[in-house]
Amino acid sequence: MIRFATIVGARPQFIKAATVSRVLRQADYVREAEEVLVHTGQHYDENMSKVFFDELDIPPPRYNLEISGGRHGEMTGRMLAAVEDVLLLERPDGVLVYGDTNSTLAGALAAAKLHIPVAHIEAGLRSFNMRMPEEINRIMADRLSSLLFCPTDTAVANLAHEGVTAGVYNVGDVMFDASLYYRDVARARGTAMQRLGVEAGKFALATCHRAENTDDPRRLEGILTGLGRVAAEMPVVLPLHPRTRQVVAMQGLDGHLGPLRVTDPLPFLDMVQLEQAARVIVTDSGGVQKEAFFYEVPCVTMRDETEWVETVEGGWNVLVGADADRIASGVLGAHPGRSGLTPYGEGRAAPETVRRLFERFAR
Ligand code: UD1
Repeated sequence: MIRFATIVGARPQFIKAATVSRVLRQADYVREAEEVLVHTGQHYDENMSKVFFDELDIPPPRYNLEISGGRHGEMTGRMLAAVEDVLLLERPDGVLVYGDTNSTLAGALAAAKLHIPVAHIEAGLRSFNMRMPEEINRIMADRLSSLLFCPTDTAVANLAHEGVTAGVYNVGDVMFDASLYYRDVARARGTAMQRLGVEAGKFALATCHRAENTDDPRRLEGILTGLGRVAAEMPVVLPLHPRTRQVVAMQGLDGHLGPLRVTDPLPFLDMVQLEQAARVIVTDSGGVQKEAFFYEVPCVTMRDETEWVETVEGGWNVLVGADADRIASGVLGAHPGRSGLTPYGEGRAAPETVRRLFERFAR
């Protein structure tokens, strides 16, 4: 029996881990592999965590470390100590980490120090902006991993530039697998459009939570002003991340939310329903940029760079920073890109990842 420990903690990781976990639970594998799921607790609100476990059909985590909030070093350090305890107890053959959050870094570092091989899913992405906490987390996680599952050719090339070629596989993007799996279910089961009173093709969907945008009041004000201008032309739905809600309140920017249709963070199926129906998506999230691309909805990204360059090259995504004018004109002038592009694989990233894991760990 091969034993894997999967470390997750933040909303996008629940979605990515669900796709791989589902394959591990298939008949071919389940007799030969056991997965121990560890939730660091980084995201803990009911609608940031529990609804994802319910909707995505992920088994409840064996451990919930309940570590969240605080400064980055503090959060990561507490996670490091707690994940180490779990790994010492469980002694897995390999540790799976996802993406670029503080939970990813803590999981990879705890495992590497105990000489447990680390597999990083979504390896090789770079924004080349070391001020982003996520960029630091990615680079460290890649350096600590012996299996690096890349979603794109660009990610493989990024690793090669850093001299990392061993154990690197382009398996495609597990988020693309997820989008294929959930798109129809979301259309049928999502309830958000009705609840928010929006019609297909006639609204903009916005999200904003990146530290570079929320921690700089001028950028946040620029973003909310830009979205307000869009709202004069079409409804703007904004599921508000708790980080952003906190800063809006602290900076006295609540008045800017008036013209927007603000809602709590949405369950995954509701989010996917809105993404598919939106006329345009405006975001600073990595995952949402890609989902826009998968569903062929034009995207406007409120950042100065992106790891997902293929979405820009394909004409589906434009980068506008946090400037109100550029946001408004980007959203109002958004148009489709080229159809039929498949830079993120064929939707078989999760089975390919599991196949490689078995190749590496089967005894
Ligand atoms: C984290 C990840 C980011 C990922 C994002 C997805 C890092 C460095 N960043 O950012 O890569 O794209 O998750 O959402 O790991 N909070 C709540 N309730 C919750 C979760 C968080 O109130 O359920 C609060 C926290 O206490 C904190 C703030 O929101 O004050 C930010 O949360 P944090 O986990 O630091 O990072 P995210 O912004 O979510």
